[in-house]
Amino acid sequence: MKTELITVAEVDSCKEVILRAGEIIRQGGLVAFPTETVYGLGGDALNPESAQRIYAAKGRPSDNPLIIHINQWEKIYPIVKAVPESAKKIADAFWPGPLTMILEKSDMVPLATTGGLPSVAIRMPNHSLALAFIEAAGGYVAAPSANLSGRPSPTLAKYVKEDLGGKIEMILDGGQVGIGLESTIVDLTSATPIILRPGYVTKSMLEEVLGEVTYDNTLFSDEEKEAPKAPGMKYRHYAPKGLLTIIAGDMEKVISYINKEALQQEGKGERVGIIGTSNTKNFYRAASVKSAGNRADENSIAKELYRILREFDDEGITVIYSEAFDTDGIGQAIMNRLLKAAGHRKITV
Ligand code: TXA
Ligand code: MG
Repeated sequence: MKTELITVAEVDSCKEVILRAGEIIRQGGLVAFPTETVYGLGGDALNPESAQRIYAAKGRPSDNPLIIHINQWEKIYPIVKAVPESAKKIADAFWPGPLTMILEKSDMVPLATTGGLPSVAIRMPNHSLALAFIEAAGGYVAAPSANLSGRPSPTLAKYVKEDLGGKIEMILDGGQVGIGLESTIVDLTSATPIILRPGYVTKSMLEEVLGEVTYDNTLFSDEEKEAPKAPGMKYRHYAPKGLLTIIAGDMEKVISYINKEALQQEGKGERVGIIGTSNTKNFYRAASVKSAGNRADENSIAKELYRILREFDDEGITVIYSEAFDTDGIGQAIMNRLLKAAGHRKITV
């Protein structure tokens, strides 16, 4: 299959392309599109065969449920059993935006889309092209991140093409995404809302609106012995090809530890990559040293993290060291993804 890659600079001047992309979805085809978090791989959420095609294109296990993307609040009603007050409140506060809510599904949603679960994940992205595309596609677009299973989520259209070129009908290129990490997922099916995946919308932001909110407590455990509540969080996602270790502690010690290890590993013939920040980059010596951004602006780090992991893969890096990041705000999501990419290898010096 030939995959069309189309640049959409602005929605108003590209209406025909968006209508055509919507038509592909209505016919059961697949279109990758940008959102404010990461690129999504879209298919018709109400068509079980589209879900099967999404799983096949990604090489993803079909017990891993998909998020349904909508473009208007009203579209939530037909796809859920009931809309609790909590759902209205967080939609008012955070939609369109990087927040996914889980509710009990209605019969309209095929089990193929929810990986067999009685619940459904729903999100309204804050991206004008995504919203126009969802409207053109009929209002219900199932979309996982547009990467091959096990690779970092794509933050640029060229990474979608690398992973899915030849397997899907079209890629809408809207440039680099704004946030760079996947949406926060909050489960509203239990009495107290539970965060299943941390993201840009933090626990304290949710608590301001909802009162008490908890974390799925498997999220930050080092051992991964209990299954997380979001089925996708159990897979070794976001894994770079190089062996990644996170080094935490006093910054001077971190720098000297990483440099010492890097030297040793390079002596053994490994190709070493280092993830620092603009504050520390010049202090490191290795084959590939990358700055994830400025420590004072964690949003910049979230935005570059997946690109850096992919670049290390492309450069044939076999061993990676990364500084640790503070776990306030989006730092929580950054460390959650880094720890998963590192298979929880973290050393404090
Ligand atoms: O930012 C995002 O959310 C991006 C963009 C494209 O919107 N999408 C995304 O989708 O990250 P995906 O498929 O890569 O991750 C969805 C996660 C998985 O971990 C999945 O297991 C979980 O959401 N999930 C989906 N439906 C669920 C449900 N009913 N109950 C629990 N977890 C669910
Ligand atoms: Mg994903």
